Amino acid sequence: MSRKPAVFLDRDGALIGDTGIPEKPQDITISTDTAKSLLRLQENYSLFVVTNQSRVSCGGRIREEVNCINNNLEAMLKEKGVDIKKWYIAPYYREESCNYIKLNPSFLLTAAEEFNLSLDKSFFIGDHPRDVAIGDMEGVFGLYVLTRHGRNHLRDLPLNKLLFHKLRDAVSWILEHPDAEMDIKRTIHAGAASVRKGSLVAFPTETVYGLGADALNPEAVANIFKAKKRPLHDPLIVHVSEKKQVIPLVSELSKKAKILMKYFWPGPLTLVFTKSDIVPDIVTAGNPTVAVRMPSNPIALEFIDLAGTAIAAPSANLFGYTSPTAADHVRVQLEGEYDILINGGACRVGVESTVLSLVNDYPVILRPGGVSIDEIQSMIGPVGTSSDSGTVDHDSPGMMPNHYATNTPLVVFSEIPEGLRESGDVGIMLPGPSEIDFAGPVEVLSETGDMRDAAVNLYAAMRRLDSMGLRMIATYRFPEYGLGIAVNDRLARASTGKI
Ligand code: TXA
Ligand code: MG
Repeated sequence: MSRKPAVFLDRDGALIGDTGIPEKPQDITISTDTAKSLLRLQENYSLFVVTNQSRVSCGGRIREEVNCINNNLEAMLKEKGVDIKKWYIAPYYREESCNYIKLNPSFLLTAAEEFNLSLDKSFFIGDHPRDVAIGDMEGVFGLYVLTRHGRNHLRDLPLNKLLFHKLRDAVSWILEHPDAEMDIKRTIHAGAASVRKGSLVAFPTETVYGLGADALNPEAVANIFKAKKRPLHDPLIVHVSEKKQVIPLVSELSKKAKILMKYFWPGPLTLVFTKSDIVPDIVTAGNPTVAVRMPSNPIALEFIDLAGTAIAAPSANLFGYTSPTAADHVRVQLEGEYDILINGGACRVGVESTVLSLVNDYPVILRPGGVSIDEIQSMIGPVGTSSDSGTVDHDSPGMMPNHYATNTPLVVFSEIPEGLRESGDVGIMLPGPSEIDFAGPVEVLSETGDMRDAAVNLYAAMRRLDSMGLRMIATYRFPEYGLGIAVNDRLARASTGKI
């Protein structure tokens, strides 16, 4: 009998994280979306649930309580037609003290034997880096979901691991990549070959998804503008996979440029230089300058490297609309416009790169983004912002006041009025948790109010609210520090008004 692949689901992260971690059995809910995802998955995979209850190992929680919740959950899933083969309370072993506990992966081997599983074709979905790491131990491919808990630990997740906004996205990825390592490699290679032939390829970066073409092929680049319905006067960022690739693209590299490249590349910082002759005019919208960045997403780097050329890429959305931070966001707007979409999960930064002009002696921020102004100033001293007086000649041609917008009117408030709080057809987007009751759907961007978490969730939350047929999306101005500055910039541009 042939071996079957399995999916191991971390109970709290993958199944109920979105609805809150239960203390009592009656607190449990399973969203329709979760049930649907599991039904899709079980057509091809045996399903197992793992409760990572470190508190059981540490003596802080009683096994019976956990079992009681699990039994309830099992009954709810059964009712929805979901068949879980076995429930594991994963054993932990203590390292030195109970402060650091590691999940013991031996239950995977036991499951493989008992259920005749092929672990090397199996997956683990969880909201903690240790869930993903279990995979590494036994050849199971780990996927990270950004449910409540997941948002707190994202920084500990190694760069080469994939993350997803929702269980649904992780499930789609698994179904498209049954042979995970090989399938992702194959798609990157196919993308590189396609871009070399002059086609368009959508690919993930750490900020947002890009719609890429060979930057040195003007006909290919022209197709980006057509696909996005983007005006030709809005120049594109050129992406490189190695620092030295910037040299032939620019007239010179200043000392400040070298410092910034040393500290922030690869990463979400785009630098604007005076361009060299090899950069086609269509890329720079006829400007004498070129914007270049080296992304840190390993898939982006491998794709650019294999393409063997610099890649011109704007965000992979229709012009003026909210940027894409997941493959599905690209698909819904641009399907048919690109040859290949490399699905690398959700973007880790979630807002676009900071654009910094180095064309004149005094550097100027043209767009706040993934690297904060403070971080840049700590390396090269004071920089201007494009809103400062006297720097209009630096203005970024693409920084239109109306951008990043949802179809549903979005309004930024300092205080959301009572009338709107009580309207079921007003969607609410909050920087952090709130005590206030809202009648409409609520998106809390960060459980801790950390602006980096908020940025990761921003565009996905805007798109979710935008798909609900609401009358309005109401949001607050976010704290104006770190990535909050970039988030506020996007909200201001996406909004139809400020109050
Ligand atoms: O994070 C990002 O930067 C993403 C990913 C895909 O890398 N890309 C992105 O591209 O956001 P796009 O096209 O959506 O925004 C590029 C911004 C625009 O505001 C554009 O005007 C500005 O960069 N830009 C590009 N070339 C420029 C130039 N030569 N001078 C001034 N601004 C430039
Ligand atoms: Mg864009």
